[in-house]
Amino acid sequence: MVAMSALLEIEAVTRRFGGLTAVDAVSAEIAQGALVGLIGPNGAGKTTLFNLISGVTPVTSGTIRLAGETITGLEPYQIARRGIGRTFQNLRIFPNMTVFDNVSVGPLGHTRNFWWEPLGLGGARAAAEREQITKSARDALARVGLSAEANELAANLSYGKRKYLEIARALAGRPRLLILDEPAAGLNERETSELARFIRELNGEGLTVLLVEHDMSLVMEICQRVMVLASGRKIADGTPAEVQRDAAVLAAYLGTEDEAHA
Ligand SMILES: Nc1ncnc2c1ncn2[C@@H]1O[C@H](COP(=O)(O)OP(=O)(O)OP(=O)(O)O)[C@@H](O)[C@H]1O
Ligand SMILES: [Mg+2]
Repeated sequence: MVAMSALLEIEAVTRRFGGLTAVDAVSAEIAQGALVGLIGPNGAGKTTLFNLISGVTPVTSGTIRLAGETITGLEPYQIARRGIGRTFQNLRIFPNMTVFDNVSVGPLGHTRNFWWEPLGLGGARAAAEREQITKSARDALARVGLSAEANELAANLSYGKRKYLEIARALAGRPRLLILDEPAAGLNERETSELARFIRELNGEGLTVLLVEHDMSLVMEICQRVMVLASGRKIADGTPAEVQRDAAVLAAYLGTEDEAHA
């Protein structure tokens, strides 16, 4: 039997902001094809860990590998090109651009700009690349059900559809690993269960997914495995059932509730 190697390996990763250790010596492996949840109280370090994985924030120490290749130290666009797509907790949509343009910039647009095109420079190779980007963007919009809105201004989309636009932008880079930061935030119950089905479908097509969510029932329903961060440390890692009855997890959540009520 061939051993399944992890798609993403996080090894003793730490990020400090001044005196605050936002991510504290976290290690984890995400297997190819997995759908893993990452939960934890507010300020636990979930978004920071996503920023470290996607290169938006440099690590203070530690190593992150994608399919065996070290990606720590690379620029975000280089990491995107190697196959990590992400969404942002605060949507990064350009309201005055069309839906299509929102998807074809971002990870795709980073790789090249096309300033020479009006000059007739670049030739066949640039044209082929442009065509590829157009196709990836169209495919991604179709995948999230936004083809009909491609030429609308993003500002005209409902909040729910803007969340799918954010996912489409990540998918347009044809990622191997999709990391989603609170995709269900602000969605109602029906929208949340549609999103759950959609994420499961993507995973069923072979896409590896790492999901940060505060909606516990969503995480517990769709994730095979759940990791828990608290104060920057990984305090639990197991099946939803294991994590739900873990004493350290319960204490971390009760602790923040006590603070909130204090
Ligand atoms: N750029 C930064 N500079 C200074 N401190 C930061 C920075 N980014 C995050 N932090 C701090 O790091 C800690 C972890 O924040 P982070 O946003 O990663 O938490 P989170 O788990 O995503 O929380 P939430 O559930 O509220 O989104 C917090 O104390 C936060 O204030
Ligand atoms: Mg966050």
